[in-house]
Amino acid sequence: MTTPNAIHVQGLEKSYGDVNVLRGVDFEVVRGSIFALLGSNGAGKTTVIRILSTLLKADAGTATVHGFDVATRGADVRESISLTGQFAAVDEILSGRENLVLIAKLRHLRNPGAIADGLLARFSLTDAGARRVSTYSGGMRRRLDIAMSLIGNPPVVFLDEPTTGLDPQARIEVWDAVKELAGQGTTVLLTTQYLDEAEQLADRIAILHEGRIIVNGTLAELKKLLPPAKVEYVEKQPRLEDVFFAIVGGKDREDQA
Ligand SMILES: Nc1ncnc2c1ncn2[C@@H]1O[C@H](COP(=O)(O)OP(=O)(O)OP(=O)(O)O)[C@@H](O)[C@H]1O
Ligand SMILES: [Mg+2]
Repeated sequence: MTTPNAIHVQGLEKSYGDVNVLRGVDFEVVRGSIFALLGSNGAGKTTVIRILSTLLKADAGTATVHGFDVATRGADVRESISLTGQFAAVDEILSGRENLVLIAKLRHLRNPGAIADGLLARFSLTDAGARRVSTYSGGMRRRLDIAMSLIGNPPVVFLDEPTTGLDPQARIEVWDAVKELAGQGTTVLLTTQYLDEAEQLADRIAILHEGRIIVNGTLAELKKLLPPAKVEYVEKQPRLEDVFFAIVGGKDREDQA
């Protein structure tokens, strides 16, 4: 690939009927970085992901993923990506390990068992690997979902709201998994409604609002857009998350059931 960018989006437009959801979306994602697309409900985040993963055609504009145009090189794009949708796509009846083996077999990979075991270990699911997914917590399910999407090592990974609906502990586990991914050179585009998630994970953050990217920058750049900090004396209240961890007690919850 000649371009340094794993994802290139220019002038993307999409309407559903007379609702103009995307009105000219532009952004670039550098190879090996984590890019967060932030926006409120209905902003069009999933629509962007669906266009980039070739599930949906744009009305106007261009997009390339891993150097391939999504409009003309759909098969090549699909070879280069994985998509973890907004709602977990794991099979409830199968065990975690069986889910992973199934996908590895569907992708015609050698040693599906070894691939499954490696991913179970990487996502702290080894102990739960033989259990039916129907017994998993939301966080475990999400981690398995992400693990499944990594089979075959796609260079570009789309995660649509990877932590929505998870408790604070499970969110941190998913964040760790995403950080590890990017640490290995995978490009990650994730969507989120949570500022703190973007803050925790992303190299760059873009805010999608009324059909356009209204802000795009690093966290430091975004913070500069705010008025300069004032010194104020306030009584520090614990955040709800602090209370939660104080009561629930650290990291060693769930998983062992
Ligand atoms: N197939 C469709 N037909 C009609 N309207 C649609 C369709 N898909 C999405 N929309 C509308 O397009 C807008 C953007 O939807 P989209 O799912 O992309 O938003 P989102 O940012 O992912 O929201 P959320 O945070 O709720 O997941 C919404 O107003 C939605 O109702
Ligand atoms: Mg969505």
